[in-house]
Amino acid sequence: MTAIVDVMNMGKVYAGGHAALTDVSLQIEEGEIIALLGPNGAGKTTLISALCGIVTPSSGRATVGGHDVVAGFRKARAMIGLVPQEIALEPFEKVINTVRFSRGLFGKKRDEALIEKILRQLSLWDKRTARIRELSGGMKRRVLIAKALCHEPRVLFLDEPTAGVDVELRRDMWQVVEDLRKSGVTIILTTHYIEEAEAIADRIAVINKGRILLVEPKADLMARMGQKTLRIDLMAPLAAVPPALAAFDVTLSADGHALSYTYEAGGERTGITRLLQTLAAEGLALRDIQTTQSSLEEIFVGLIKEGAE
Ligand SMILES: Nc1ncnc2c1ncn2[C@@H]1O[C@H](COP(=O)(O)OP(=O)(O)OP(=O)(O)O)[C@@H](O)[C@H]1O
Ligand SMILES: [Mg+2]
Repeated sequence: MTAIVDVMNMGKVYAGGHAALTDVSLQIEEGEIIALLGPNGAGKTTLISALCGIVTPSSGRATVGGHDVVAGFRKARAMIGLVPQEIALEPFEKVINTVRFSRGLFGKKRDEALIEKILRQLSLWDKRTARIRELSGGMKRRVLIAKALCHEPRVLFLDEPTAGVDVELRRDMWQVVEDLRKSGVTIILTTHYIEEAEAIADRIAVINKGRILLVEPKADLMARMGQKTLRIDLMAPLAAVPPALAAFDVTLSADGHALSYTYEAGGERTGITRLLQTLAAEGLALRDIQTTQSSLEEIFVGLIKEGAE
């Protein structure tokens, strides 16, 4: 199977000498969702911009649908929908006109049925005659997606689709992305959030300081990296970890009110059942329990350490 997006040894050095991308190679198959995960300044937007013809690569090359993104810019760009990181919309324009206009920019014939379908899919149909400035931030982000989709791209780039979006809307957005995939669109999204990559991506590429550190199926990465921490808040504080819990790798918070237990999220046996049984046998009353996933930062630290070994 040939890749719909093929990045070959791409480098980008900005005027001023900053190397934003170094020797980046990445193949993306049609129909997959890939998340580019990386901290601020990693080069995510630069990579997307290079693929969309907004930034000229300094070295290497890339194709989208077989068209070179520089030499065959128009053909490559016609296949791409881009949802930029920054919200840039005309405040006084009506939602539906903004989307129609974007389609026109690609030289496509008017297609009201398609525009309606896209606006409905993004829950914007009721807002179609609202002016952009009357929309919330999350709605504006969905308008950006509608604009990116209205020329029927086969590849959609979403640059930080859920930055500044609340938890509930973030889930809605994930659903939108999943629905888009079902319609056959290949999706490349950037994010800082490991939960986001975990929720929707098939593969995860970790990028840091302009280099791709790894590209792996999500399941493999989560199994390898995914540690979770179970935090148990106690009704009454403890002075020390009870001896009965010595077999578990638990730590007590400084105030004695919480126990933390770290385990492999992908492991067959997490040890949670046994831990909770032991706590009950010890007569410890629990106020609350919560789990947290290891953060991207921790995963990074792990990756970078690994690379240094
Ligand atoms: N037009 C530009 N001129 C010079 N340097 C730039 C330009 N655009 C980006 N950079 C630099 O290139 C590096 C990568 O930036 P980029 O925007 O690609 O990162 P990012 O991974 O998208 O970060 P974020 O998560 O903050 O959006 C940064 O150090 C940035 O300062
Ligand atoms: Mg960016």
